[in-house]
Amino acid sequence: MRAWLLKEQARIEERPLKLLDIPEPRARDDEVRLKILVCGICRTDIHIAEGDLALRKSPLILGHEIVGVVDEVGKNVNRFKVGDRAGVYWLYSSCKKCKYCLSQRENYCPDFRATGWDEDGGYAEYITIPEDCALPLNHVKLEPHEIAPLMCPGIAGYAAFKLTDAKKGYKLGLYGFGPTAYFVLKIADSMGIETYVSTRSLKNIERAKKEGANWAGDSSKERMPCELDAAIIFPPAGNLVEPTLSQLENGGTLVLAPVSSTPINIDNYSENLWGRSIKTLYNINRGEAKEFFNMVEALDLNLGTILFPFEELQDALILVKQGKTEQPNVVITVAD
Ligand SMILES: NC(=O)c1ccc[n+]([C@@H]2O[C@H](COP(=O)([O-])OP(=O)(O)OC[C@H]3O[C@@H](n4cnc5c(N)ncnc54)[C@H](OP(=O)(O)O)[C@@H]3O)[C@@H](O)[C@H]2O)c1
Ligand SMILES: [Zn+2]
Ligand SMILES: [Zn+2]
Repeated sequence: MRAWLLKEQARIEERPLKLLDIPEPRARDDEVRLKILVCGICRTDIHIAEGDLALRKSPLILGHEIVGVVDEVGKNVNRFKVGDRAGVYWLYSSCKKCKYCLSQRENYCPDFRATGWDEDGGYAEYITIPEDCALPLNHVKLEPHEIAPLMCPGIAGYAAFKLTDAKKGYKLGLYGFGPTAYFVLKIADSMGIETYVSTRSLKNIERAKKEGANWAGDSSKERMPCELDAAIIFPPAGNLVEPTLSQLENGGTLVLAPVSSTPINIDNYSENLWGRSIKTLYNINRGEAKEFFNMVEALDLNLGTILFPFEELQDALILVKQGKTEQPNVVITVAD
């Protein structure tokens, strides 16, 4: 099969991926094999390619927003049959035995294996995966390229939203308005939760307003019009933490979404932290993926997706890194 392989990390502008012909993987007894249709680009792919995250396997196939069709099933598989539509997201497998796996919190499993990092991902024609971690998609009436961005920003946004414990009538702040925050806004809106978006660029401020935010602006320049019940910070910017805490009411929750951050200082404990809680988003679990896909069609989504052919993956990665894509979501077509 054709696959994009990363052997050594380098700046994405140096085009570290190589398009090669390698043997097709075969489904083991408890695995399904997908013929991949599309795979969406996530910023994490760039972090892995460039060395911000360690290379855990070499060569590696990146990509964890995968939509495909089951074309081979192992002999113990009973959740899928050949021809089913299925997806693969960040959770590739977990141990199934630890206290976290036994309480539906695989996201904390010490053996959490990530797609496109610990295991080969979606910039290839085929992938094999344990059937219990493949996501059934027959019931989702969207096109494959519309589903791909749901697989990472969608599920992660839902998981971050759940951590806020926001309920109808609450006021929720979103700091940074990239693809993940977009889904949180839509989920919150569908539940009657008010959203207050702080983001720097005019383009993102306008998009947030158009998509239904109650307020959108740059809170480093103008203060939000009210206190918040909960907030989520998306960019890895530790300097946002204390000002955001100061915007929360007592009893409020701050969720930190990034996987890394610049240093976080809280100088005034009594004024800004006392009475509030901080939580972090740490991977995603199967329950969250399933719940999100059960609600997704009720959301009024206007994703904004641009497609690139398989051969142009590295051009697309460079444009994503430089923030030069016309649409917020970029998806690679692997097969028609
Ligand atoms: N924890 C997990 O398990 C997990 C899973 C999936 C994703 N994530 C994380 O979720 C986050 C969201 O990802 P994303 O791709 O949707 O968003 P993103 O593009 O990384 O960032 C969101 C927005 O934040 C703003 N921003 C960037 N740097 C900023 C800064 N220094 N100060 C203020 N605003 C800044 C930008 O908008 P403006 O230019 O308009 O300000 C940007 O569009 C990422 O950090 C990702 O690592 C975490
Ligand atoms: Zn991702
Ligand atoms: Zn486990």
